[in-house]
Amino acid sequence: MTKFNSEEVQGNILRGYRKNNVRHLMLEVTDRGKARQFLAQSADGDHPQDVPPITRSANWDDAPQVCFNVGITFEGLRALGLPRRSLDTFPTEYKEGMANRANKLGDVGASAPDKWPVPFRELDRIHLVVSIYSNDTGDFDKVEAQVAKAFDVLGVRNGRNLPEGKVFFGYKDGISQPKFKHIFDPEKVDVNEPKDPLGTVLLGYPTNLEGVEFTVPYPKEVFCNGAFNAFRILKQDSAGFEDYLTKVADKLMTHPDVDKLLPEGAEKDICGGIGRRDALREVVAAQMCGRWRNGTTYELSPNSDNDDGISATNFDYTRNSRCPAGAHMRRANPRGGPIVQRIANHSRRLVRRGMSYGPDFDQAPRTVENDKAERGLLGNFIGANYGAQFEAVVCDWINYGLQDPNITGTNDPLLGANVTETSAFDLTLSDGGSIRLSEFPRFVETRGGAYTFLPSLPAVRYLSKLTG
Ligand code: HEM
Repeated sequence: MTKFNSEEVQGNILRGYRKNNVRHLMLEVTDRGKARQFLAQSADGDHPQDVPPITRSANWDDAPQVCFNVGITFEGLRALGLPRRSLDTFPTEYKEGMANRANKLGDVGASAPDKWPVPFRELDRIHLVVSIYSNDTGDFDKVEAQVAKAFDVLGVRNGRNLPEGKVFFGYKDGISQPKFKHIFDPEKVDVNEPKDPLGTVLLGYPTNLEGVEFTVPYPKEVFCNGAFNAFRILKQDSAGFEDYLTKVADKLMTHPDVDKLLPEGAEKDICGGIGRRDALREVVAAQMCGRWRNGTTYELSPNSDNDDGISATNFDYTRNSRCPAGAHMRRANPRGGPIVQRIANHSRRLVRRGMSYGPDFDQAPRTVENDKAERGLLGNFIGANYGAQFEAVVCDWINYGLQDPNITGTNDPLLGANVTETSAFDLTLSDGGSIRLSEFPRFVETRGGAYTFLPSLPAVRYLSKLTG
């Protein structure tokens, strides 16, 4: 088993930086020598005036002002000159790259890779995705200029945190994450939650699956302590989502079972007290996600979004849960709840690091121009194995609903590859019954992305010393 040394692992994997802004750069290696020299200097941090030092997973209270991380695609490893003997030992999903996994990921129709904008149409040219994090966007140009001396910058994507930790669609995000006992996190010292083994996200350690250690590419002592990342550009149709909530709430107002969805009078406990129709919009949004939009756990609080005394993360699902089996976060992590693949409970954990992109969504007043503007999420979904984690979650659970016969064949209502003709989602009622929602479109489209490997610091040094 690998010996853990936090200084050797890139930052942002085991613990987030909590910065407000990010710039992702999509890079091509056109001069191997320059690329290798950049990586060598970046791993050692000896020349900060020339290259940004790679941020490590050290036990800091506050992350450095500017954080910098490196992700390398399979084509990138090839471009850096990694020999065939090693390349062959990387997992198939990574070798094929994100575009070739489109069917499994639901990247079809308008989300298909051939519809992705530049530079994502030429995925073979994307060799690295490097990410710069800072609270001050003024830091980005300097770092980008340093990077551009060694690589061709094919594309740039800027992201930012929305106020109150929210993402588009208005939900607070980033609440549930795997936690690792090896990592000091001052904000989590009093949180009494189960910890995940390092093998959930890093190569070379035992995992949550009994007796399973995911394969480490050759040479193992180099590629242990690395992780695999699915970088996704997910466009969100905020206007379409809000309009659908309104349409459904209007219908629910006269539904005979509506009081079993939300007892009459409960609207005073939602968003500090709102009208019945607006409260129904919020219940539908809460059931679609599994949390009220302010982050309160729906499973523990089905009639109020007041989070007093309600745990944000310490809860589980049962057969009689009020949180629908089809809700986004229950699909993405069924916790210990009843699922067909019992062995997979707690095992398909993903570290999520994302920020929003695009302009604010203006609710009042709405304008056609603002409704149509492109906005969404720059998401990083990190784990030790694409097949057993990211793809298993997206394909089996989010897209097909294989975890529960009651939802099999339906798609995640919030972000699945839905089409109006077949979409379906069952709202739960207090007496165990349900109301079926249908005819909702796809609210999230894929606009690009890449599968990248996040090498350990020793692995970056190894790659920088390759010859030929
Ligand atoms: C634009 C796209 C997305 C939006 C708006 C979104 C939104 C959310 C929200 C609001 C939560 C609840 C907050 C929390 O518990 O931290 C959540 C949880 C989660 N989401 Fe997403 N999500 C998106 C895409 C995805 C994708 C593509 C995946 C999977 C690959 C995913 C996996 C998860 C997981 C694993 C959780 C935590 C569930 C738990 O541990 O209880 N999300 N998401």
